[in-house]
Amino acid sequence: MSAYRLSELIDDRPADGVFRINRALFSDPDVFALEQQYIFEGGWVFVGMASQALQPHDYFTGFIGRVPIIVSRSEDGALNGLINACPHKGARVAQQLSGNTRLHVCPYHSWSFDSSGANRNIKWRSGGCYGAGFDRENHDLARIPRFGEYRGFLFASLNPDVPSLEDYLGEARKLLDLVADQSTEGVELVPGAVRFTFAANWKMQLENCSDQYHFTSTHPSYIRILEARAREQKNDVVQSTLGGSDFWKEDAEGPTGGTFSFEHGHVLNWGLMAVTPALPLYERADEIAERIGTARRNWMFNMRNLTIFPNLQIAENASSQLRVIRPIAHNLTEMQTWCIAPRGESAEARRTRIRQYEDFFNPTGMATPDDTVVYEECQMGMARQERPWLQGHARGLTASVEGGNAYSEMIGLNPQRSVLGQAQTCDESLFHSYYRAWATRMQDGLA
Ligand code: FES
Ligand SMILES: [Fe+2]
Repeated sequence: MSAYRLSELIDDRPADGVFRINRALFSDPDVFALEQQYIFEGGWVFVGMASQALQPHDYFTGFIGRVPIIVSRSEDGALNGLINACPHKGARVAQQLSGNTRLHVCPYHSWSFDSSGANRNIKWRSGGCYGAGFDRENHDLARIPRFGEYRGFLFASLNPDVPSLEDYLGEARKLLDLVADQSTEGVELVPGAVRFTFAANWKMQLENCSDQYHFTSTHPSYIRILEARAREQKNDVVQSTLGGSDFWKEDAEGPTGGTFSFEHGHVLNWGLMAVTPALPLYERADEIAERIGTARRNWMFNMRNLTIFPNLQIAENASSQLRVIRPIAHNLTEMQTWCIAPRGESAEARRTRIRQYEDFFNPTGMATPDDTVVYEECQMGMARQERPWLQGHARGLTASVEGGNAYSEMIGLNPQRSVLGQAQTCDESLFHSYYRAWATRMQDGLA
């Protein structure tokens, strides 16, 4: 692989109690180029929510790996996954992040395409003296070979030769259900997408969403503020859902959370939380329990950080956030984030959700900047070294077991592996799942 064999990049020897990855996974531009080809352009990736294009002719744009795309709702109500590149000379026909238009007009020579991607006009065609070869060609926008929806979550693959979306998501579908079932009308993205970049590899973000170990070390100022608020017990400040915990002590009484890992690299880390009025979802607690059962309802109140490999993360902790990871270079990543919320929640609940969201998330929040700064610190230390192996994937190794536990059984969830522990276990073994999926995709691609 590039200048490496796979075993030089990932040292995965479960029988010897060893799992290590090489710094080159973060620092080598050749490895990154192969990732774009085989991970992002070689299989299913998340592209957006159906709710981002509700009305006919609504569209939004994005990327699958290096390839620009449009997701567009056509006149007939269908969602279309299209390549955002003009058949004439390749210009993107849509440049805005989102909008509504019956016609995408290319900025270069004005070829135009309707909301289903069909070519509607080629400027000055009749006088253009085209040959028969040109007439035989299809002038529509190319379609993304595979495009699918699961409960409002849209995924697409440039590679036609992939398992069905249902198979790809597998058991992790049940965790998307815990998001989608928060309202009978499904979920929506609260208006106001945030885009930012950090100067580090995309896998820093991939891992950090599942990294409990950093919380007290990286975010002490946030925790101190929560503690001060709790002491003052003022009603006019944002009460965080995390505010009741003692973050510094080891919990002595039984498990407080854990991790699940699934096929294809999807993972969840979670923490036990009560059905608490601090969560805006509380107003629906009874209705949800009646509709889908108490166990699933209780799980919705647990702290949950879900990653659908490789680029979707849904964090339900201090508030509820949907994140999309877009790798740009081996040392540059773009994030797009939204507050995700059940449709039809009360104005009061929505207000609380947004206040909790602002408190914790985004470049203006009290947590995100801490994280992106340490990603960049790590990236600096990823340069090629005599000792290439990172030591960041060993916590929880002896606690990790095959299959699930009593908490997964509650909701009929069947993970490949799980860890159940106290607050200080801070399992890192769920990252193995990312790198095993990574290795499989890279190997299949190279083969
Ligand atoms: S590149 Fe689109 S019309 Fe020429
Ligand atoms: Fe963090």
